[in-house]
Amino acid sequence: MDSVEGDRQDMGDIILIGFMGCGKTTVGLKLSYRLRRPVTDTDKEIERAEKRTISEIFATDGEAYFRERETDCLRRLLAGGSGRILSVGGGLPLREENRALLHELGQVFYLRAGAQTIYERLKHDTTRPLLQGDDPQGKIERLLGEREACYMAAADEVIDVDGKDFETILGEIEERALKR
Ligand code: S3P
Repeated sequence: MDSVEGDRQDMGDIILIGFMGCGKTTVGLKLSYRLRRPVTDTDKEIERAEKRTISEIFATDGEAYFRERETDCLRRLLAGGSGRILSVGGGLPLREENRALLHELGQVFYLRAGAQTIYERLKHDTTRPLLQGDDPQGKIERLLGEREACYMAAADEVIDVDGKDFETILGEIEERALKR
Protein backbone atom coordinates (compact mmCIF):
# COMPACT_ATOMS: atom_id res chain seq x y z
CA MET A 1 0.00 0.00 0.00
CA ASP A 2 1.47 3.34 -0.89
CA SER A 3 -1.39 5.68 -0.06
CA VAL A 4 -1.83 7.43 3.26
CA GLU A 5 -5.22 5.71 3.58
CA GLY A 6 -3.59 2.35 2.97
CA ASP A 7 -0.95 2.96 5.62
CA ARG A 8 -3.58 3.89 8.15
CA GLN A 9 -5.58 0.74 7.41
CA ASP A 10 -2.48 -1.45 7.68
CA MET A 11 -1.77 -0.08 11.13
CA GLY A 12 -5.38 0.02 12.21
CA ASP A 13 -7.54 -2.28 14.26
CA ILE A 14 -9.85 -4.96 12.90
CA ILE A 15 -13.24 -4.14 14.40
CA LEU A 16 -16.17 -6.54 14.74
CA ILE A 17 -19.67 -5.08 14.98
CA GLY A 18 -23.11 -6.65 14.86
CA PHE A 19 -26.16 -7.59 16.88
CA MET A 20 -25.96 -9.41 20.23
CA GLY A 21 -25.25 -13.08 19.63
CA CYS A 22 -23.77 -12.67 16.14
CA GLY A 23 -20.44 -14.11 17.37
CA LYS A 24 -18.26 -10.99 17.77
CA THR A 25 -16.60 -12.12 21.00
CA THR A 26 -15.82 -15.67 19.85
CA VAL A 27 -14.71 -14.55 16.37
CA GLY A 28 -12.57 -11.85 18.01
CA LEU A 29 -10.79 -14.36 20.23
CA LYS A 30 -10.19 -16.83 17.42
CA LEU A 31 -8.99 -14.08 15.09
CA SER A 32 -6.65 -12.75 17.76
CA TYR A 33 -5.06 -16.18 18.05
CA ARG A 34 -4.82 -16.65 14.28
CA LEU A 35 -3.43 -13.24 13.44
CA ARG A 36 -1.38 -12.91 16.64
CA ARG A 37 -2.94 -9.60 17.48
CA PRO A 38 -4.26 -8.51 20.91
CA VAL A 39 -8.03 -8.57 21.36
CA THR A 40 -10.17 -6.07 23.25
CA ASP A 41 -13.91 -6.23 23.93
CA THR A 42 -15.63 -2.93 24.77
CA ASP A 43 -18.17 -4.59 27.11
CA LYS A 44 -15.36 -6.20 29.09
CA GLU A 45 -13.39 -2.93 29.18
CA ILE A 46 -16.43 -1.10 30.52
CA GLU A 47 -17.13 -3.80 33.13
CA ARG A 48 -13.51 -3.61 34.25
CA ALA A 49 -13.53 0.19 34.48
CA GLU A 50 -16.86 0.24 36.32
CA LYS A 51 -16.11 -2.84 38.47
CA ARG A 52 -19.61 -4.24 37.80
CA THR A 53 -21.45 -6.15 35.11
CA ILE A 54 -23.35 -4.68 32.17
CA SER A 55 -26.60 -5.88 33.79
CA GLU A 56 -25.74 -4.01 37.00
CA ILE A 57 -24.84 -0.86 35.06
CA PHE A 58 -28.19 -0.94 33.19
CA ALA A 59 -30.14 -1.67 36.39
CA THR A 60 -28.49 1.04 38.48
CA ASP A 61 -27.65 3.84 36.05
CA GLY A 62 -29.66 3.04 32.93
CA GLU A 63 -28.90 2.59 29.25
CA ALA A 64 -28.01 6.26 28.59
CA TYR A 65 -25.21 6.07 31.16
CA PHE A 66 -23.90 2.86 29.56
CA ARG A 67 -23.93 4.50 26.09
CA GLU A 68 -21.73 7.32 27.44
CA ARG A 69 -19.29 4.74 28.77
CA GLU A 70 -19.15 3.13 25.30
CA THR A 71 -18.09 6.41 23.72
CA ASP A 72 -15.52 7.00 26.50
CA CYS A 73 -14.16 3.53 25.85
CA LEU A 74 -13.71 4.20 22.11
CA ARG A 75 -11.93 7.46 22.86
CA ARG A 76 -9.56 5.67 25.21
CA LEU A 77 -8.88 3.00 22.58
CA LEU A 78 -8.16 5.66 19.98
CA ALA A 79 -5.75 7.42 22.32
CA GLY A 80 -3.54 4.34 22.64
CA GLY A 81 -2.80 1.26 20.60
CA SER A 82 -3.25 -0.10 17.09
CA GLY A 83 -3.24 -3.38 15.24
CA ARG A 84 -5.76 -4.89 17.66
CA ILE A 85 -8.89 -6.95 17.19
CA LEU A 86 -11.80 -5.03 18.74
CA SER A 87 -15.20 -6.57 19.38
CA VAL A 88 -17.74 -3.95 20.34
CA GLY A 89 -21.14 -4.03 22.06
CA GLY A 90 -24.13 -4.56 19.77
CA GLY A 91 -25.56 -1.09 20.39
CA LEU A 92 -22.32 0.84 20.09
CA PRO A 93 -22.54 1.65 16.35
CA LEU A 94 -25.93 3.34 16.82
CA ARG A 95 -24.34 6.67 17.72
CA GLU A 96 -22.99 8.62 14.79
CA GLU A 97 -20.06 9.81 16.88
CA ASN A 98 -19.17 6.19 17.66
CA ARG A 99 -19.33 5.25 13.99
CA ALA A 100 -16.84 8.02 13.20
CA LEU A 101 -14.55 6.82 16.01
CA LEU A 102 -14.74 3.24 14.69
CA HIS A 103 -13.63 4.41 11.25
CA GLU A 104 -10.71 6.24 12.80
CA LEU A 105 -9.72 3.08 14.66
CA GLY A 106 -9.56 0.83 11.61
CA GLN A 107 -11.46 -1.53 9.32
CA VAL A 108 -15.01 -2.34 10.42
CA PHE A 109 -16.52 -5.81 9.80
CA TYR A 110 -20.26 -6.24 10.28
CA LEU A 111 -21.05 -9.84 11.29
CA ARG A 112 -24.61 -9.97 9.94
CA ALA A 113 -26.90 -12.57 11.50
CA GLY A 114 -30.62 -13.06 10.95
CA ALA A 115 -33.19 -12.75 13.74
CA GLN A 116 -33.79 -16.50 13.90
CA THR A 117 -30.09 -17.31 14.36
CA ILE A 118 -29.84 -14.71 17.09
CA TYR A 119 -32.96 -15.97 18.85
CA GLU A 120 -31.72 -19.56 18.82
CA ARG A 121 -28.41 -18.50 20.33
CA LEU A 122 -29.78 -16.15 22.96
CA LYS A 123 -33.14 -17.61 24.00
CA HIS A 124 -31.72 -18.76 27.35
CA ASP A 125 -29.38 -15.79 27.86
CA THR A 126 -29.74 -13.72 31.03
CA THR A 127 -26.86 -11.28 30.52
CA ARG A 128 -28.39 -8.97 27.88
CA PRO A 129 -30.70 -6.50 29.68
CA LEU A 130 -32.36 -5.39 26.42
CA LEU A 131 -33.65 -8.90 25.70
CA GLN A 132 -35.05 -9.83 29.12
CA GLY A 133 -38.77 -10.14 29.87
CA ASP A 134 -41.59 -11.10 27.52
CA ASP A 135 -41.24 -11.86 23.83
CA PRO A 136 -37.45 -11.88 23.31
CA GLN A 137 -37.99 -12.96 19.71
CA GLY A 138 -40.14 -9.89 19.03
CA LYS A 139 -37.53 -7.68 20.71
CA ILE A 140 -34.77 -9.13 18.56
CA GLU A 141 -36.76 -8.61 15.36
CA ARG A 142 -37.69 -5.04 16.25
CA LEU A 143 -34.20 -3.99 17.39
CA LEU A 144 -32.53 -5.66 14.42
CA GLY A 145 -34.86 -3.81 12.05
CA GLU A 146 -34.13 -0.51 13.76
CA ARG A 147 -30.38 -1.05 13.79
CA GLU A 148 -29.62 -2.53 10.38
CA ALA A 149 -29.06 0.86 8.70
CA CYS A 150 -26.60 1.91 11.41
CA TYR A 151 -24.65 -1.31 11.11
CA MET A 152 -24.47 -0.88 7.35
CA ALA A 153 -23.40 2.75 7.74
CA ALA A 154 -20.62 1.70 10.11
CA ALA A 155 -19.38 -1.26 8.05
CA ASP A 156 -16.47 -1.39 5.62
CA GLU A 157 -17.17 -5.07 5.06
CA VAL A 158 -20.26 -7.24 5.63
CA ILE A 159 -19.85 -10.90 6.57
CA ASP A 160 -23.04 -12.98 6.54
CA VAL A 161 -22.71 -15.49 9.35
CA ASP A 162 -25.95 -17.52 9.22
CA GLY A 163 -25.21 -21.21 8.72
CA LYS A 164 -21.42 -20.71 8.55
CA ASP A 165 -18.90 -22.30 10.88
CA PHE A 166 -16.21 -20.22 12.55
CA GLU A 167 -13.52 -21.47 10.20
CA THR A 168 -15.42 -20.06 7.20
CA ILE A 169 -16.11 -16.74 8.91
CA LEU A 170 -12.48 -16.33 9.98
CA GLY A 171 -11.31 -17.13 6.46
CA GLU A 172 -13.59 -14.48 4.97
CA ILE A 173 -12.40 -11.83 7.41
CA GLU A 174 -8.75 -12.70 6.91
CA GLU A 175 -9.10 -12.57 3.15
CA ARG A 176 -10.72 -9.16 3.17
CA ALA A 177 -8.49 -7.78 5.91
CA LEU A 178 -5.37 -8.73 4.02
CA LYS A 179 -6.62 -7.19 0.76
CA ARG A 180 -6.55 -3.65 2.09
C1 S3P B 1 -26.08 -4.40 23.76
C2 S3P B 1 -25.22 -5.43 23.47
C3 S3P B 1 -24.36 -6.06 24.48
C4 S3P B 1 -24.05 -5.08 25.61
C5 S3P B 1 -25.32 -4.51 26.15
C6 S3P B 1 -26.15 -3.78 25.11
C7 S3P B 1 -26.94 -3.85 22.68
O1 S3P B 1 -23.14 -6.52 23.89
O2 S3P B 1 -23.22 -4.05 25.14
O3 S3P B 1 -26.07 -5.56 26.72
O4 S3P B 1 -27.49 -2.75 22.86
O5 S3P B 1 -27.05 -4.51 21.62
P1 S3P B 1 -23.04 -7.80 22.91
O6 S3P B 1 -23.41 -7.35 21.54
O7 S3P B 1 -21.60 -8.19 22.99
O8 S3P B 1 -23.94 -8.83 23.44
